Amino acid sequence: MGKFTQATTSEEIDADLAERYGDYAGFTTAASPYLIEEYGEDSHGEVKRLLARSIRRDSRILDIGCGPGHTLCRFAPEVDEAWGIDEDEALLAGAKARVTALGLSNVSLVHGNIEHETDVAQLPDDYFDIAYCESGPNLNAALARKLTNDALFFQEIGGHYSGYQLHEVMGRKPYTYYAYGDDYNDQILLSDMAALDLVPISVKHYFYDWYFRDVEHLEAHVKQVVWQLGDWRMGGPLPYDPVRDRTALELYARYNTTAKGIRMQEHLRVFAWRRARVHYYPAAPNFSP
Ligand SMILES: C[S@@+](CC[C@H](N)C(=O)[O-])C[C@H]1O[C@@H](n2cnc3c(N)ncnc32)[C@H](O)[C@@H]1O
Repeated sequence: MGKFTQATTSEEIDADLAERYGDYAGFTTAASPYLIEEYGEDSHGEVKRLLARSIRRDSRILDIGCGPGHTLCRFAPEVDEAWGIDEDEALLAGAKARVTALGLSNVSLVHGNIEHETDVAQLPDDYFDIAYCESGPNLNAALARKLTNDALFFQEIGGHYSGYQLHEVMGRKPYTYYAYGDDYNDQILLSDMAALDLVPISVKHYFYDWYFRDVEHLEAHVKQVVWQLGDWRMGGPLPYDPVRDRTALELYARYNTTAKGIRMQEHLRVFAWRRARVHYYPAAPNFSP
């Protein structure tokens, strides 16, 4: 404090504030991080990076919602066993064909909906040391039983700001974000995962700008991705209807037209979870409940 009262020049005051407040007040000091990296890659890249860093030769990995098996087949050659589960038969057939074409003998593909316990029962218990999911279904209690006690789970999941303003103007969302579906917010997700003994070890948010040439181009897009226009409050997906929604779409275009075209924001999140007993109230070393 004595130092503060003596400081008179701006440089001296800044030096004092920097020492006392550091990064909090926008000062870089010796205590600041020595390197800050922009995420610099897309969310799909992040899942692959996490996988590449974590798999071992003896790993047994599980792809939840493996689809046509791109990621599964990419990592299968590097692990002992690679399993995928998906409810979509056509996509799973694509995965099977890829496995055959690549001559992979350590891949098991399971047809099933992870919401159905009987389907999940096809997977061995307490078996996988690494599971991951790329914009597929979320982990649940039945799936969690398939993971070993020290498993890692990497999860790419849609973010609450994907197409946010577009959904708002088209009446598909309330003005605050809520907990379910693609909008599963971080706090709800953290608490649901804690109930499955999963704690976050890395959380990253990714934002993308998508651009559309004109209203027709944007309309073609929203017609195609009907699933993005669902809203639980309305009792399920409410596909784009030109008669009902065109005026709102034009309003969106009016407010979001930039030099590059009509902008739409995309938002994805990547969580890395570690299986561990969750302590809701961390205790001091000498604390005894
Ligand atoms: C974005 S794709 C994943 C693509 C895949 N990772 C790849 O490398 O090609 C998401 C997948 O999750 C699957 N899926 C969604 N809900 C599911 C559920 N309840 N049970 C099983 N699979 C599901 C979809 O069928 C789809 O194949």
